[in-house]
Amino acid sequence: MSSSNSSNSSMALKGHHVLVTGGSQGIGAAIVVDAAAEGARVSFFDIDVERGEALAAKLNSEGNEVLFVKADVSKFEPFKAAFDVAVAKFGPVTAACSNAGRNSYADPVTYTDEEWESFFALDLKSSWYISKLCLPEMRKAKKGSIVFISSIHGRMTAPNYFPYSAAKGGLIGLARNLALDEGPRNIRTNTVSPGYTLTALVDSYFDLYPDRKADAEAVQPMARMGNPSEIAKVVSFVLSDNASFINGADLMVDGGLHARFA
Ligand SMILES: NC(=O)c1ccc[n+]([C@@H]2O[C@H](COP(=O)([O-])OP(=O)(O)OC[C@H]3O[C@@H](n4cnc5c(N)ncnc54)[C@H](O)[C@@H]3O)[C@@H](O)[C@H]2O)c1
Repeated sequence: MSSSNSSNSSMALKGHHVLVTGGSQGIGAAIVVDAAAEGARVSFFDIDVERGEALAAKLNSEGNEVLFVKADVSKFEPFKAAFDVAVAKFGPVTAACSNAGRNSYADPVTYTDEEWESFFALDLKSSWYISKLCLPEMRKAKKGSIVFISSIHGRMTAPNYFPYSAAKGGLIGLARNLALDEGPRNIRTNTVSPGYTLTALVDSYFDLYPDRKADAEAVQPMARMGNPSEIAKVVSFVLSDNASFINGADLMVDGGLHARFA
């Protein structure tokens, strides 16, 4: 991970405090890097302390203002405790990205209540939590931008994706509703929906279903999968004032995969 993309920076997030969940690796780490390169003070929360601390140390040594706090964002109390630490350091959160998530492929008959509660607490509920925490100050400021990382699975799916597709579809609904509720206060809420993006999460999917890898590669309209930084660039744009009239949208960043009929 590098912040070398700072050479392309337009400092679109200067003056912002950007909060990111699940920022220690993958798409979340790329969002942390890009937001810092765009001039933001960035706080990020993750359960992976080793990678989180290393990323924050590297970015700070390059002159950025970045804070890592260990927190399981699927639980409100630790999420709020980390949030309070971040606000004490960098001031009110002005732009937030709920990115932490994991895969879940399950049989709807054998799936247990405990599995459902634990999965949805992360992949859906933590996005409500980030909103619940950020909205009071955003309402006072009459300004804010919130992005949830959904997925191409929010709109279309493939066999065995229950309950992932349910949670990702839920995020699109949550963002649409907040867009209407908070829009009058100049607070925008949107989803960014990646297609296949080269991270550990995709690696684990192909480890589980190795026979699907060749097909997944073959259907890519741009003949490749995406890189985390290509998702991060869109997130930084939507978080910034450059996207001042984008609200309630689901931006698909999937190289055109959603355009394919079969
Ligand atoms: N990679 C893809 O192809 C792809 C496609 C569509 C959507 N997404 C979504 O993008 C987001 C990021 O995915 P990724 O591919 O970077 O995954 P990843 O597994 O590489 O990274 C996820 C990060 O979230 C953190 N995390 C997990 N549980 C957490 C918790 N309870 N509290 C705090 N942090 C936690 C992990 O430690 C990790 O740093 C997810 O919401 C995922 O569903 C990914």
